[in-house]
Amino acid sequence: MEQTSKRDWYKEMSFYQIWVRSFADGNGDGIGDLYGVYDKLEYVKSLGVDGIWFSPIYPSPNADFGYDISDYKDIHPDFGDLDQFKKVLKKAHELGLKVIMDLVVNHTSDEHPWFIESRKGKDNPYSDYYIWRDKPNNWDSLFEGKAWEYDEQRGQYYLHIFAKKQPDLNMDNPKVREEVKDIMRFWLDMGVDGFREDVINFISKREGLPNGLPILPAAKGMSHYKDGPHIHEYLSEFRKVCEEYDCFQLGEGPMTTVKSAMNYLTGPTKSLDMMFSFDHMMADCFMTEYMHRPFSLVKLKKALTKWQKALEGKGWNALYMENHDHPRIISRYGSEHLWRESGTMLAACYIFLQGTPFVYQGQEIGMTNIRLMSIDQYVDVSSITNYHTYHLKEDPERRLHRIHLSSRDSARTPMQWNPGANAGFSNVKPWFYVNPNYKRVNVESEEKDPASILNFYRKCLSLRKSSKTLLYGTYNEFYPKNPNIYMYERCLDDEAYLVICSFSRLPVKPKKPEKFRGKRGELVLCNYEQTHKLFRPFETRVYRYKL
Ligand code: GLC
Ligand code: CA
Repeated sequence: MEQTSKRDWYKEMSFYQIWVRSFADGNGDGIGDLYGVYDKLEYVKSLGVDGIWFSPIYPSPNADFGYDISDYKDIHPDFGDLDQFKKVLKKAHELGLKVIMDLVVNHTSDEHPWFIESRKGKDNPYSDYYIWRDKPNNWDSLFEGKAWEYDEQRGQYYLHIFAKKQPDLNMDNPKVREEVKDIMRFWLDMGVDGFREDVINFISKREGLPNGLPILPAAKGMSHYKDGPHIHEYLSEFRKVCEEYDCFQLGEGPMTTVKSAMNYLTGPTKSLDMMFSFDHMMADCFMTEYMHRPFSLVKLKKALTKWQKALEGKGWNALYMENHDHPRIISRYGSEHLWRESGTMLAACYIFLQGTPFVYQGQEIGMTNIRLMSIDQYVDVSSITNYHTYHLKEDPERRLHRIHLSSRDSARTPMQWNPGANAGFSNVKPWFYVNPNYKRVNVESEEKDPASILNFYRKCLSLRKSSKTLLYGTYNEFYPKNPNIYMYERCLDDEAYLVICSFSRLPVKPKKPEKFRGKRGELVLCNYEQTHKLFRPFETRVYRYKL
């Protein structure tokens, strides 16, 4: 059995992700902030989680809502200030919640002082902080057309893998790496407990920046910057800083294969404790949700099982179904009509896997995708680009439908706290549209209902934590080809948990795996009040067996 050592404390934890702008407005300007967060910390604690990941809360012109940072060592004035952050941190720690920050160092904002200096000319001290070329290569950006933008002032092109206002840092420059370490120390010295490292597998670019092959839509060149030549060297430098503190590192790894993930998570090049993988986010799309195709449970299971088995006994998974980059899970893999049923089942289907679960704000109450009437109402840069770039031959209605299915804005609407005005998010008109379903889908109503999605999340998180088997047991999947049922066991010594999730809108009768036949399991969790022979739509059950 795996034991937790001092630096392994994250293994038994679960996390709640806060995207502050839409969480809770504490000072009445319609924008979520750290005053609102402060007031809601008891609620976060009540979920049974042990920590918070804050999406970026630093000063930012918001070209990519915080992921374009103009000052790494301060708080966005919309959210409060450093004093308010320290208050939040102190209270979180008093409640027993760890706090991890988003470390976004693949790029800065073009309004960051480093870039303002760098564009001044080649003899500027910050000249080599970014990636400048006289002639661009053929790479595409992921958010806004070509990956190169001409800068009049400097008379050269700069690289931006994301939006134009997100110039890529030149990580080959040792000074830039020193800056990163300095930023890490700044927050660690203040007492934060670790980092979620944004697109961290993109920070080392192939030497000479060769042209890329057009293998993937919107990603020409990706193979020349994903898992690049010096990535492990650079990450090991950052790792050393973390080792001076009792903190942990979680990397975001877009498009990383499980094979290359092993190099980040295990062995001599281990530089991250966990990684957010993307394979299971492609059960209804190709690469990004905008390239939508029908949901396939078999694909979802295959992705989850692949990561579970590969990391078993070697690494540790970060488990998630939602975050600020993906549409809401009930709208994707469940059903808005069978809202409670699918919302609860989707909790059970991943929280009992091996790894550390992350719950994104609003997921625990079953928030669903918003559908706006026009593309002009959307604010996310990637949704707007996608709409105007792809599928142009389809009619506008169909294209807008694609946005409903795929937009990051779908999951960035204000948190629904109660059935009152503005869903209790703010006293004034919120900065973004509230989902009209807030009268039914909200914290206050769900607190009162023992069978709510909210209370089911609490049950799942506490069950997981109470069981060494669910934390550390081995994982095995049954019937991987079954298109309706996801079934897996977690085993440790003489104990086994059998998790059965129906993704079907119709009743189904899953077969008990051979090894459990003739044995009586104890039903420890179910999302219906009573069980029958058949599994009803989106039913989930968890049984415990003594073997
Ligand atoms: C990550 C973030 C996403 C951001 C992108 C560029 O994928 O999660 O929100 O847009 O990196 O920073
Ligand atoms: Ca506010």
